[in-house]
Amino acid sequence: MPTTLPPPPVVPDRERGGMPDPDSDLLRFLEAVAAHGDVVAFSLGGRERVLVNDGTFVARFLQEAGDETRRAPINLATAVVTGDGLLSSEQPRWQPRRRVVQRGLSPRQVRGHLRLLADNTTRWLTGVLDDGEVDLAARVGELTLDNLGDAVFAADFRPVRPLLSRVLAGVLSTAAAANSGRVDQAAQERLHADVVELDAHLARLIAQRSGPATGAGDVLSVLVEAGRRDDDVFSERWVRDEALTLIVAGHDTTALLTTMALSLLARHPDVHRALRRELRAARNAGVPDEELCEQVPLVRLVLQEALRLYPPVPVLHRVATQALDVGGHTVAAGCILVFCPWVQHRDPRSFPEPLVFDPWRFSEQRRASVGAAYLPFGGGRRMCAGNHLATLQAAMIVCLVTLLADVETAQAEPRLEYAVSLRLPDGLPARVRSARRP
Ligand code: HEM
Repeated sequence: MPTTLPPPPVVPDRERGGMPDPDSDLLRFLEAVAAHGDVVAFSLGGRERVLVNDGTFVARFLQEAGDETRRAPINLATAVVTGDGLLSSEQPRWQPRRRVVQRGLSPRQVRGHLRLLADNTTRWLTGVLDDGEVDLAARVGELTLDNLGDAVFAADFRPVRPLLSRVLAGVLSTAAAANSGRVDQAAQERLHADVVELDAHLARLIAQRSGPATGAGDVLSVLVEAGRRDDDVFSERWVRDEALTLIVAGHDTTALLTTMALSLLARHPDVHRALRRELRAARNAGVPDEELCEQVPLVRLVLQEALRLYPPVPVLHRVATQALDVGGHTVAAGCILVFCPWVQHRDPRSFPEPLVFDPWRFSEQRRASVGAAYLPFGGGRRMCAGNHLATLQAAMIVCLVTLLADVETAQAEPRLEYAVSLRLPDGLPARVRSARRP
């Protein structure tokens, strides 16, 4: 790389004072940084960072990057809980592990869970229907955790829901604090105690599968099978790490996507009416309920638009391992590259009228203009390993709720906060009533 390239422009110190505080509102802060250009340097938590806000450059690093980048401290911070699972693994161990996980989460495996997901959702709906005001975010979170237990682990997570919720909240806030260079000792000690308890539960689940191989298709069985090799890459310890990785990576993200899709539909009756009309037409044409989510294309468009407006993983990080040319600027080795789906998805150059909820912008006729700027599941070889499961789960819930219930929420956008994933600190108060017959 020529050494004559200039460094990226830096956000001037005098302007930092007028910008949102990154510790309390990282997303608004990054929006303000992006106003200075497509490749902009800033420092945070004592580390030099560069926000890369051009879809083509971001795609280059995500799609093609090999040895040029490695996992960033924020990914490694989750490793206090997830050990050497996929979120923090590096080559040469990452690739063989990724292949195993991918086998358990392939589209074909995931489709095998359609009936289970439909049954769980129908049972869940009877519990929330006409139950007065509920926190829809919390209730959806319970359902997606049950789905994850049943589908991925073939195990009942219901008895450990509170413990899992504490571990998830703990690991995400610890990682978000580490990103800003802060350490909360008391929170780390609480988290450690909860992880010890969760480890004991997981060890029991893993031991149940430790007999002769059964060829069962759930992901935990696939991991246990690989772990029998007991070498540098696959071991009993790795089975535990990867299982926790799937819980940490898969739960809050799917719950947020589903909750925000339901919230958007509740706030946009025109889209809600169109979706319900299409669902009823498909049902009347004989499509079974558990297949509606695959047969009615508008469901996917609604989810794609919900992921655009509220990407559950709104910021991605990598560390440059060598000096890099990023859009004509030199970025020094050791610098943290920041890619921000939240900012990119709200850029009017890629998404005209970016704050408008318009699922049809993803329709075949119009989606050509979306391009590289859209990255809710990341991209390249480290793209989300659970995207099929997440989308199918969310689609099933959105379909059955839209068909069978009317959801009422406040019209204002709910308050969101960043803690590695996007979260709803006040939940989502809502009323869920039985739908009127057509
Ligand atoms: C709507 C839901 C989800 C969203 C938006 C999402 C988003 C993402 C993103 C953006 C990444 C890439 C992070 C990076 O490049 O630094 C990722 C990685 C990952 N996700 Fe997801 N995810 C979701 C659900 C799931 C589910 C359900 C699972 C599994 C049960 C899962 C497992 C993983 C794993 C294992 C990785 C690491 C992959 C690797 O590095 O090889 N995710 N996810």
